[in-house]
Amino acid sequence: MIFILQRPTKPITIAPDYAALCDLVAERIAALVREKPGAVLGLATGSTPLGVYDRLVSAAQDNGLDFSGVTCFNLDEYFPMSADSPHSYHHFMQQNLFRRIRCRRWFVPDGAPRSEAEVAQSCLEYEAAIREVGGIDLQLLGIGRSGHIGFNEPGSPPDSRTRLVSLHQKTREDAAASFGGLSAVPAQAVSMGIGTILEAREILLMASGAGKAEIVRAAWTGESAESLPASWVRSHPNARLYLDTAAAQAFS
Ligand code: GLP
Repeated sequence: MIFILQRPTKPITIAPDYAALCDLVAERIAALVREKPGAVLGLATGSTPLGVYDRLVSAAQDNGLDFSGVTCFNLDEYFPMSADSPHSYHHFMQQNLFRRIRCRRWFVPDGAPRSEAEVAQSCLEYEAAIREVGGIDLQLLGIGRSGHIGFNEPGSPPDSRTRLVSLHQKTREDAAASFGGLSAVPAQAVSMGIGTILEAREILLMASGAGKAEIVRAAWTGESAESLPASWVRSHPNARLYLDTAAAQAFS
């Protein structure tokens, strides 16, 4: 059964488990693509959205959902990181989504090793590319244990734009297994800013599992603050939190 929790300032959709959570989020994205074939999607990495991507691939392959007019922008990339590295988010998105569906264009911030000035220039170009296609219609977000969205760690201002950022210790620890050790995890990343994210016309913030329960409750019930970047999402007029019951347990 799907619950809609009304008590916090904004409603929360709670699905019984991860599979049902992914069904709901994928259905919302598919509905937008059907309604607006030239939609612009903002996409996230991490394990949380993987089930959503599987469902979108099935919708395209089995049910003819047409992504050929859709443009996608990802939130972030490690720095320094070559796009063709198996650790890159570019590679992650290619493997999990873009080699399986045909969309019009897809972008991931460029983490190629180079000077800070060159990175700053490519960040401006990323923002310009988003503006050129008319902005993001729907932004999908996960949440990190530090409370980050994209790689906007605590301390990120709400008007921040795409830029080079330093990663929180918890974020690097969470990535350590996939890099084969903490020392191999980059200390920096290129991330869309909170201001960039909040300009999306719709935001879906999804979280799964008990490990996210406390941070999600804090983000959705306290004051919006730089110390908890995901808390800014609540100030967006068209944002919705999607949880499974394990991630929602701290609300009860
Ligand atoms: C990374 C990404 C975030 C993502 C987070 C959570 O840090 N940069 O965008 O939300 O991981 O990952 P997971 O979904 O695996 O918990």
